[in-house]
Amino acid sequence: MVSKELAAAREYEEREGAKVSREERPAYHFSPRIGWLNDPNGLSFFEGKYHLFYQYHPYNSWWGPMYWGHAVSDDLISWEYLPAAMAPDTEYDGAGCFSGSAMILPDGRHLLMYTGCSPVGMDAEGRWRQTQCVATLETDENGSREYVKFAGNPVIADEELAEDGDIYEFRDPFIFTAKDGTYRAVVANGRRRDSESFSNSGAQLLMFRSNDAFSWEFEKVLFEDNRRIGVMWECPNFFFLDGVQVLIASPMDMQAEEANGSVRFPQGNNVCYILGIYNEDKEEFIPYKDNKGNYLYQPLDGGLDFYAPQVMKTPDGRMVMFGWMQDPSMGMLHEPDEFRIFGQMTIPRELSQKDGRLYQWPVRELEKYRKDLVEFSGVELGEEEISLPGISGRVLDIELEVKPKTVSFAGTCSLEEFDMRFAGNDEFHTEIRFRPDSSVITIDRKDSGQAENITRRRSIRVGSREGSISLRILLDRWSAEIFVNNGREVLSVTYYTPLEADRISFSAYGSAIMDAKAYTIEL
Ligand code: FRU
Repeated sequence: MVSKELAAAREYEEREGAKVSREERPAYHFSPRIGWLNDPNGLSFFEGKYHLFYQYHPYNSWWGPMYWGHAVSDDLISWEYLPAAMAPDTEYDGAGCFSGSAMILPDGRHLLMYTGCSPVGMDAEGRWRQTQCVATLETDENGSREYVKFAGNPVIADEELAEDGDIYEFRDPFIFTAKDGTYRAVVANGRRRDSESFSNSGAQLLMFRSNDAFSWEFEKVLFEDNRRIGVMWECPNFFFLDGVQVLIASPMDMQAEEANGSVRFPQGNNVCYILGIYNEDKEEFIPYKDNKGNYLYQPLDGGLDFYAPQVMKTPDGRMVMFGWMQDPSMGMLHEPDEFRIFGQMTIPRELSQKDGRLYQWPVRELEKYRKDLVEFSGVELGEEEISLPGISGRVLDIELEVKPKTVSFAGTCSLEEFDMRFAGNDEFHTEIRFRPDSSVITIDRKDSGQAENITRRRSIRVGSREGSISLRILLDRWSAEIFVNNGREVLSVTYYTPLEADRISFSAYGSAIMDAKAYTIEL
């Protein structure tokens, strides 16, 4: 039985979603069928298709009571919308079906594990009680299939919370299978603010166990942020990759961390990762530490718009990650009337680990959508801005190799700064700058027409390569993802300027030599 809330949303998304033209959407980044999108949820490969669910408010382009939107794909790039999977329609999730993940049960059923926000029992600050819930894909007697919420929901509530756990900050279950075939879920949790022994609240990640994915018990605190990085580590991911255990989470309300002209973390919500060892028998996560004994946490994206990523394993064994390509605070700043849809995912990125860092690269499936290659080699760059024939427009996949024209024996390099401007016209542009002397790359959208109080610029340090840099830049109508030096760093940024601003130009202080390839992308 489909609830009236879900039926109404489906009727609405089908009718209104059909009115959204292809030109109103990013050309090849996933966007909501209609209305608002935030986190990727329930990533999985089920019955021969990739499934992407997403935090979804269909009725306007603002965050609101959360539904789960749903889409399927054969190749992670081209998606088909399916009807919304879940609506906020019960006593335990009526204020929102928040983020979560998916699993395929031994009997072949698709299971979604998510956070229910209850409109009943708010605290004095108006925060919702948050509990963990499940739904499974069931077929009724007429053969129709629906994600049916489990009659025993919520499956994890107060009684299973850690001693100091705050039930109002308890969300985003990440489900996985343990060594012995039973299930674990890692859930984000804030420590209670009123507890005397923990006067300072802080983030912790709790691990729960279950034999069947329906009945859960508290196992342990998997990770505690005793360094006070942000107030709550949303959307945890916990997985093994290339010989190490990886924890990815999205700390909220961080203090900025800046040094020597680079911004490791800007103020606000960020995504970080921590590598370490997982002792599966003891179920103990041992993060790698620096020589002062502090665990090493690193930014996952060096740009301005990236949050709440989720990973999945593909049938051929790749670990692929989608992120929500938006600064969460932007939700409050855009002009709602301009857009019938708002929010997009990053390109799915293949993850790998090398020398203690996570590398990211666009999934190889994107390459089959590349068309109309133009290629230049040995282009000399100087102070005058130049454009290259065929390298213009808002939808491109660009590869650049930039190196100083000369490097002396003493190491003095002829390149002071490389500049690339895109999404440009006389009024607007977005800019990338690279300075070999400090090995710093900057993304700058001060001329990108954003609302006044949005972060406009970020500089990060990149691995030095004798003054040269390689860039792969995925431009879509309102976004750029810049993969630096084979994906060692990535910078994601959005800019909502008019599409007529489509000029791309290059210049340098000092002198540089550039090789360039560019393709359009067409789905
Ligand atoms: C992250 C987040 C999650 C929550 C969801 C609600 O962006 O705040 O913690 O489950 O979004 O939409």
